[in-house]
Amino acid sequence: MTSSPLTPSSSPSPLEHGGRLHTIAQQYNRPVADWLDVSTGIAPESYPLPDLPSSVWHRLPEITPSFLKAASDYYGCESLLPVAGSQSVIQHLPAIVSRAGRKPSRVWVPHPGYKEHEKAWADAGVPVYRYRHLPHLTALKSGDIVVVINPNNPTGTLEERTTLATLQEQLHALNGLLIIDEAFMDCTPEHSMLQSLHGENLLVLRSAGKFFGLAGIRAGFLFASRQWRERCSAVLGPWQINGPALQVLESAFNDVSWQSVQRSQLNESALWLGNLLTTHFGVKCTGTALFCTMPHTRAPELFAAFCAEGVYPRLTDEKDALRFGMVTVSQRARLAQVVARVSGIMERP
Ligand SMILES: Cc1ncc(COP(=O)(O)O)c(C=O)c1O
Repeated sequence: MTSSPLTPSSSPSPLEHGGRLHTIAQQYNRPVADWLDVSTGIAPESYPLPDLPSSVWHRLPEITPSFLKAASDYYGCESLLPVAGSQSVIQHLPAIVSRAGRKPSRVWVPHPGYKEHEKAWADAGVPVYRYRHLPHLTALKSGDIVVVINPNNPTGTLEERTTLATLQEQLHALNGLLIIDEAFMDCTPEHSMLQSLHGENLLVLRSAGKFFGLAGIRAGFLFASRQWRERCSAVLGPWQINGPALQVLESAFNDVSWQSVQRSQLNESALWLGNLLTTHFGVKCTGTALFCTMPHTRAPELFAAFCAEGVYPRLTDEKDALRFGMVTVSQRARLAQVVARVSGIMERP
């Protein structure tokens, strides 16, 4: 855990993410169509697109009662604001918090973790403290903000709801805020804070892109009190989610049987992938049903070896692990062959 804050970045620059398939394909001189892209935590099977009425292209997007019902039934919470991906809230959190008249003195972010949280606060000039384990009460000060990614990306660490409820109370006593990013929570909803969302100091983010395999439509949600949702809406502006995306999502949220199949397929895939990697590389993997993270001392070399075989994983920002997204059943044979070949190469001196 860092005891001194990170220096605010002097020249805000974009971070690297997975999903840069065209760039990687060019770098390794292999046609895009020949790649197995496992560089993200997006489900390999997308929700099948329904037929869309032409009005969704023509009319301005409108959040209808039926959309709100479908979304709140799916998440089990009505206090929601639809946004164009949870990233759109993450990058505006400093502005949203400042609209509440708060001037945060410090922000705690998980490390390793999805770096956009750290970047948003550092770019806004707020001192950022990194933590490996949730900050203890004795480390917290008045007005602190704690960001928790639950489960964490890329480590998969899952915090218990009781632990988070205690942290929320402690922060409340300190006039602080708890922000929970549940982008990868869909396969473990029993751990979601949405079941007991209350209070003025808890903001929860959800992503619709990962579990539903619909990252391209850019959809997510902020769950918080009405005041926080109004502030967020004022910062982000109207028509956050486009009309076609609203229509697709409403179907996806209502399709409980598809969700149940998706959940069990993802769980089964994660088990298969974890076993495959552990068997060949002899290391324990961590993760969620949407990704599997394998620590390795030669991770950059491994990354290059996988790419040379047309498999594109995510090299973590710390360059000490590879993260693999799930593959479909029909892609398993190819991934298994490449894993066997790459692990063979790595055994050579
Ligand atoms: C932990 C975490 N939160 C949020 C996001 C943003 O997701 P989206 O904007 O697609 O909802 C990501 C994207 O990878 C992520 O890993």
